[in-house]
Amino acid sequence: MNTDTIAHRIHWDKKYAQGNTHAAYNPDPDLIKLIHHFPSSGLALDVACGTGRNSFFIADYGLDVVCLDFSTEGLNFLKQHRSSEPIAKKLFPVQADLSNTPLPAATFDAVFVIRYLDRTAFNSYLQALKPSGLLFFKAFNINHLNSKPDFNPDYLLNKQELINAFKDNEIITTNDLNNNEDEESMILVRKSQAKNG
Ligand SMILES: C[S@@+](CC[C@H](N)C(=O)[O-])C[C@H]1O[C@@H](n2cnc3c(N)ncnc32)[C@H](O)[C@@H]1O
Repeated sequence: MNTDTIAHRIHWDKKYAQGNTHAAYNPDPDLIKLIHHFPSSGLALDVACGTGRNSFFIADYGLDVVCLDFSTEGLNFLKQHRSSEPIAKKLFPVQADLSNTPLPAATFDAVFVIRYLDRTAFNSYLQALKPSGLLFFKAFNINHLNSKPDFNPDYLLNKQELINAFKDNEIITTNDLNNNEDEESMILVRKSQAKNG
């Protein structure tokens, strides 16, 4: 891990240690709206899961979930939350640095990436999916500067960036249009076998 990554991990560990579990631990609202598109069994990957607000929702829906994050504190929260309930057996927490951890190929029925932006990894999410698997991706876009002018623009999506990145796959739904006024862009795509092996 390089020093930037270590500093970044400490930042998230501190945040989670202070009890910041993200938006009162509610799952992402678009995930709630779109979950019916997903199979209700199989294996999912929640990339950069944090404390697991979305992982639990996906597992409650029926999928087994590999919950990957580099924050020990985030994963500790996830492990303790509802640990006495049967749902705990559907979650598989993995502590790893995504910047140097290759995802296994053709393994998951569904991949979820919510509020974590690494453009260089877009292709690896598709490769991690089984044929015809589903990817849900959502992150802040440049409209976020309206409410948070100091936000680092490197971590903001441009308009139509998701549509362009995933255009070779079946786009089931997206809000990633030029006139989109939302502060977050999202896309749900089905992996095309022809382009992504
Ligand atoms: C904004 S939070 C989103 C958490 C979760 N997806 C959610 O929506 O609640 C970003 C997460 O990315 C994780 N993260 C950032 N860089 C990472 C890296 N290189 N490897 C693994 N996790 C990372 C952080 O620990 C943090 O939990």
